[in-house]
Amino acid sequence: MTIQFSAKIFSQADLHSPKHLKTSLTTLLSQATDCLVLAYSKADLDGLAATKAKSGLLVELDRLLGGSVSHANLVGDLDANPADVCTLRAEKSWLANGVKAKRVLLVSLGDLVSEKTRSLNAYSKIARAALKSLSGGSITNALWFVPGFALVNTTDFIAEEVRLTIQYAGDQSYRFGVHQPALKFKAKDKADSFAHLTFAGNDLCAKELKAAVAEGVAMVEGMNLAKDLGNLPPNICTPTYLGKTALGLSKKVGLKVEVLGRKQIEALGMGSFLSVAKGSDTPPQFIIMRHLGGKAGEAPIVLVGKGITFDTGGISLKPGEAMDEMKYDMCGAASVIGTMYAAGLMKLKKNVIGVIPTCENMPSGQATRPGDIVKSMSGQTIEVLNTDAEGRLILCDALTYVERFKPKAVIDIATLTGACIIALGHVHSGLFSEDEALVDALTKAGHASLDTVWRLPLDAAYQEQLKSNFADIANIGGRPAGSVTAACFLARFTEKYKWAHLDIAGTAWKSGAAKGSTGRPVPLLLNFLLEQK
Ligand code: BES
Ligand code: MN
Ligand code: ZN
Repeated sequence: MTIQFSAKIFSQADLHSPKHLKTSLTTLLSQATDCLVLAYSKADLDGLAATKAKSGLLVELDRLLGGSVSHANLVGDLDANPADVCTLRAEKSWLANGVKAKRVLLVSLGDLVSEKTRSLNAYSKIARAALKSLSGGSITNALWFVPGFALVNTTDFIAEEVRLTIQYAGDQSYRFGVHQPALKFKAKDKADSFAHLTFAGNDLCAKELKAAVAEGVAMVEGMNLAKDLGNLPPNICTPTYLGKTALGLSKKVGLKVEVLGRKQIEALGMGSFLSVAKGSDTPPQFIIMRHLGGKAGEAPIVLVGKGITFDTGGISLKPGEAMDEMKYDMCGAASVIGTMYAAGLMKLKKNVIGVIPTCENMPSGQATRPGDIVKSMSGQTIEVLNTDAEGRLILCDALTYVERFKPKAVIDIATLTGACIIALGHVHSGLFSEDEALVDALTKAGHASLDTVWRLPLDAAYQEQLKSNFADIANIGGRPAGSVTAACFLARFTEKYKWAHLDIAGTAWKSGAAKGSTGRPVPLLLNFLLEQK
């Protein structure tokens, strides 16, 4: 964990009721913290500016802080725009009033509160701005008063907002390898000094708050693991390394983990998966991780992650430019491992099974050639017209394998096609499914975690493009609708259960100066699992 999170309940604290305002503020300000984070509304600001009957949060705060708030307002530091922030620093007068907070960070809610319904999108901007001012300086800990970020006393959105704040704080503080010396390759990196965020609540929201903090913490742990695995160099993060990482979690959080080697994969008849692994000297692995937190016999949700630890394209070799980024071709697998870890940590009361086919896609004298025909575990034969369309070749056998679990639903996660980046850029992950309930649930989970998806088609009309003259199916469907034909290929192996496919080619990592894993779609998957009945 790069940052610690906790919850603290001040049972009566309430900044919405004029009656409790003063005592609530006194209590919060008397906490020894580097920074107390308080949200204010436009009405609070108007109250401060009123010529006659000044009233409200900022007025009361101004009294307790010896005029610091009105002074900040006088010099133009307070604003009614959403996500505007202003840091007040302790002065002598604060001490006289028993104020122990060293700073107060005032965060403007702006139109978040003028809208009829609060929006998580608006909140996310506000939370990000607040978190930004907490990081990178001398602040090491902060106390964040959660109920103040709503206009009225309500527990609606508390869970989403707290989880999202933790998600963003985790993102902000993540540094590759800094907290795992074994992964540290860069001498100069150091951790952010901001290391502890406490969420303050009251009796009304105590239950939601505590649960959301536990869930958020688990989510960040899962995201960090997914990011580390993605960012690791491909000479270290091999199929064997992924297998060992999964096995390590079995001790840590009680997942049941099995790792199958080449012989066992052969015995299962996974000819398609093995055809990809053939060109590499590194052995393939097939990882199965079980989190059985639900009732015995309850049908599991199955997550299948693409685990190509390096994709050269094989004999259909990729061009050299930015080829290093193909170390991220195991981000689907990383998101499954991260999600399973988080599910274990939060003791999720559901049965979830993670399945990962993992290998390298390399050219060599042993490698599969364009034109080779291979037999999948399902019995369908595949003409490999392009060895760079390897993701679907390893996934199809995993998708056949998972039939044995009689799953409630199967979701596969893959950095499957460059075409998905052309279609959706780096904003939404591609979502493909013919099951409307799954589409709805995943779309909602995406909104709740701001780890969003966009649905693309999957209808039979596109299956035409996958016709082969020599085998049951070809592994490519030409340039038009490349992401759709890739999904259509997978659809041929998923007829026995409800299924959705996520193409995360554009969302799993960032290129350029900020190159690095995003940890997506761990938040989406966890929100989806949390909402399952
Ligand atoms: N892993 C790639 C997809 C990819 C490329 C993801 C670039 C992110 C960035 C995948 O294995 C692949 O090479 N797909 C081919 C498919 C084509 C040969 C039909 C592609 O997208 O070009
Ligand atoms: Mn490829
Ligand atoms: Zn690939």
